[in-house]
Amino acid sequence: MSSRRRRTALLAVGSAVAAAALLTAPAVAVAAPGDPASPRYADGPEGAGDPYFPLAGNGGTDVLHYDLVLDYTPAPPEPAPLEGHLDGIATIDIVAMQDLDRFNLDLRGLTASSVVVNGLPVSFSQVDNELVISPRPKLKAGTQAQVVVTYVGTTIQPTDIEGALYGWVTTRDGAMVVSEPDGSATWFPSNDHPTDKATYSFEITVPEGLVAVANGLLTGSSTSDGKTTWTWDAPDPMAAYLATASVGDYVLNQYETPGGLPIIDAVDPSRPPSSSAALALTSDMIAFFEERFGPYPFVSYGAIVDDDSVGYALETQTRSFFSRNAREGTVAHELAHQWMGDQVSPYRWADIWLNEGWATYASWMWAEHRGGDTAQQSFDDVMAIPADDPDGFWDVIVADPSPLGLFVDPVYDRGAATLHALRLEIGDDAFFELAQTWVERFGGGTASTHDFIALAEEVSGQDLEAFFDAWVYTGEKPLSW
Ligand code: TRP
Ligand code: ZN
Repeated sequence: MSSRRRRTALLAVGSAVAAAALLTAPAVAVAAPGDPASPRYADGPEGAGDPYFPLAGNGGTDVLHYDLVLDYTPAPPEPAPLEGHLDGIATIDIVAMQDLDRFNLDLRGLTASSVVVNGLPVSFSQVDNELVISPRPKLKAGTQAQVVVTYVGTTIQPTDIEGALYGWVTTRDGAMVVSEPDGSATWFPSNDHPTDKATYSFEITVPEGLVAVANGLLTGSSTSDGKTTWTWDAPDPMAAYLATASVGDYVLNQYETPGGLPIIDAVDPSRPPSSSAALALTSDMIAFFEERFGPYPFVSYGAIVDDDSVGYALETQTRSFFSRNAREGTVAHELAHQWMGDQVSPYRWADIWLNEGWATYASWMWAEHRGGDTAQQSFDDVMAIPADDPDGFWDVIVADPSPLGLFVDPVYDRGAATLHALRLEIGDDAFFELAQTWVERFGGGTASTHDFIALAEEVSGQDLEAFFDAWVYTGEKPLSW
């Protein structure tokens, strides 16, 4: 769903008879242009319009809800290759945003065996990573439809354009499922762009003894015939890259914060005690960030700590994912993303510094709170990098780092330094009012660098054009602003 729309009940599926009657209507609009009663059915665009990932997401539809029923059998024991088997049924509630002859979903490395729209089987094709669906009857702008995609595939270890593991990453004891920026298509048919947030529910069946962990709240688990089905409900609108359904031999630890927020951690029993020590700070960290960013935005929180590694952590919504170890600074970083990145998500992937700069700055503030380096010291460390840094630290334009530069150090560290410099520029009161208004105003949706600058100017009453030019739009070390 886009922004804050509430989940609506599915419209009753039309009967086959009524649908067949509609099919006799002319398929192509022939009436005079501009006649609102004669829709011109067209193809929904094959991407959401993001210049960095032109095919990610789709145009012409708005997803309200994904209901994902998955049956997964992880890799058999040696010998390699490490592969699993995934059967899926995705029931997707969409709204047509234009009169649609065809529309797309993103699906990569998996094979759809049937697509049903409003109860009627329809024709479809798969071209590269696009699932192209021809709903019949065609969909009129503004109507809601239920799309059921049945699919199957062999799971592997997918990689992003930089070569980093992401998506449904098969492991010996399950799967690590972390999909930033466009990896959700490796495990379900999706509108894989943050501008189309939706609610989710999950029903994941795995061999008995394994635990499947998704977003939101655990609503049940039951075992029969050597298989366990885990059900989860994620009612907060969520970008596709933040969905997870990780599988492992996790131990679940469930409790509530003093404020009454349910926490569900899933930790591989072989993880080092330092992971548990850092996770034990979760309640304190939530209270600390609530003071700075406003109320925690979702129904639950928790961590997944796997014994395998994708090489990084990810702020999967309500349930951050950690590779091998959950270190305190990283635990603070991923938690802060729940406000900055998850509740307010990037409008375009070029806006990634708003995710990583805020999360990094949050971990600087947490370190200061814990008696470590102050935020000012962390800022000074960044400013100690020479203007002619041989690695080109200052060359990156953080508000446009290129598709291959989403996760480079300057996006994190110069991004965080930008926020500290802004705090010094506008003062603590305006800075934290900015942080909270940002989450209030754009929460549940997305926002851009342009939105951030406009809000900073609105809240502070200052002209910040020169400031942001120097800090986020220039590939040089800021020396004056
Ligand atoms: N967004 C993650 C974080 O900072 C990092 C991340 C996602 C990443 N994909 C990556 C880092 C690929 C390196 C490579 O919490
Ligand atoms: Zn991050």
